[in-house]
Amino acid sequence: MFIQIKDFATHDGQKVSIRGWVYGRRSGGGVVFLQVRDGSGLCQCVVETATVDAFQKASELPRESSLTVSGVVRRDDRAPGGFELAVSAVEPIHLAEEYPITRKAHGIDFLMSHRHLWLRSRRPVAIMRIRHTVIKACRDFFDNRGFTLVDTPILVAGAGEDAQTLFPVEYFDGKAFLAQTGQLYLETACMALGKVYCFGPTFRAEKSKTRRHLTEFWMIEPEVAFAELDDVVMLAEDMICHVVDAVLCRHEDDLKFLGRDVEALRKVKKPFVRMTYAEVAENLRSEKTRKWLEDEILRDKIRLQGWIDELDELVKQVDAAKKATQKDKLQVQIHELKENIEDLEADLRNRPAHIASAQSFQFGSDLGGSDETIISRQFDKPVFVTDYPKQAKAFYMKESAVDSRLVRNMDLLAPEGYGEIIGGSQREENQDALVARMKEKGLNPEDYGWYLDVRKYGSVPHGGFGLGIERALSWICGLRHVRETIPFPRTMGRMYP
Ligand code: 4AD
Ligand code: MG
Repeated sequence: MFIQIKDFATHDGQKVSIRGWVYGRRSGGGVVFLQVRDGSGLCQCVVETATVDAFQKASELPRESSLTVSGVVRRDDRAPGGFELAVSAVEPIHLAEEYPITRKAHGIDFLMSHRHLWLRSRRPVAIMRIRHTVIKACRDFFDNRGFTLVDTPILVAGAGEDAQTLFPVEYFDGKAFLAQTGQLYLETACMALGKVYCFGPTFRAEKSKTRRHLTEFWMIEPEVAFAELDDVVMLAEDMICHVVDAVLCRHEDDLKFLGRDVEALRKVKKPFVRMTYAEVAENLRSEKTRKWLEDEILRDKIRLQGWIDELDELVKQVDAAKKATQKDKLQVQIHELKENIEDLEADLRNRPAHIASAQSFQFGSDLGGSDETIISRQFDKPVFVTDYPKQAKAFYMKESAVDSRLVRNMDLLAPEGYGEIIGGSQREENQDALVARMKEKGLNPEDYGWYLDVRKYGSVPHGGFGLGIERALSWICGLRHVRETIPFPRTMGRMYP
């Protein structure tokens, strides 16, 4: 009977077969330990010399060969997952060629160029599983609250956000663009269905090579009729809590494997921090923040020195190590530590400029990446920033009733320095005000006839937001860069594989 590795616990003592791939092998004392993965998990298969045929085959199978293994499931607390397979037969399906990804340390560029194979490793598998849960949790959240999924077009005629980041495509005799957001279409649909959401790929020709930017990313966007800014904020808060709970509930082991500080995620509880843009501007410019940032530099320099000492120690251990496998393991640790050190060094080099830029922050500009980092490092919960200046934000946001320089919008900044993961707003529902805003932003209202129609026939207050799945995952998994959160990342510098 074929079973999946994840179901071993319910087959204790039974003879079973599994199908999978060789993940690793170790031998010693007349026993071969094959690590086999089948997509559901990883198990240790113990092959003894006495099972002559199986032992012979197991000893020769190259890494990532596919195979069938039969044997008896038995409890072993030392084995990963708590069970192992006492093997009676091994049947190769396909013998793999020499596998390019080894136990040795590889650089991120090499791994990204072999992403189609790298996906088989434990780290990407853990991230893809969490990605699945994040998406499902978002969708369950909206489905359970009476939202209807509405699919919005990918090929569109004009800008939904900043026109500078549009990707043009040839469209028969004319030009079309790849959608930057589903929002404008959702606004029409919420007037039909009340509460709607879309979930799909989104495209931005971002000429930035930061750890937060992809050119193709996935966004979940709700839109609600009769909602004002506060409703939108509360909806986003509830959704994030739901998503984080779902991940903590199902993926504690995956998070720990990724080295995520799980306790930091447990602090993500309502209510989140709420600040206005004006308060953020004041915070960035304040003496208190400057002092705090300078102290932080000192703390990080001490942390850096600790890592450098640790690196020296590891280098000594490599030189002393006798076994090749031991050396490889240490090299991987050294590689990771070096990456961390380089990262922190680069970060520390930039800090003085970031502090200077925060201190001279001018009312009117959008928050820069470093400003978001500074704010979101000060709290252990996500921070809502509301009421930005009009000029820094998109044309569709509703003007504030108390200060006409501001709009009723919100960005949600993830803690620990991650920065913006959600952008949202109440929408301008007044046709004249919207047309004026379009003109200010250099858009031609005639191109948006259908969008303006929403304001002609029973216009109501409404609003929504967009959560970038990759940014959210990067934070939840505690990753350095969004590129690892999507199976095949698209950035300015990468289209392969
Ligand atoms: O803030 P943005 O541009 O908002 C919108 O697109 C609105 N139309 C959403 C709405 O109100 N329905 O983008 C929303 C989120 C960001 O907060 C971020 O998480 C993600 O999308 N995002 C990106 N993620 C990765 N790479 C990029 N280049 C991204 N640009 C935005
Ligand atoms: Mg934004």
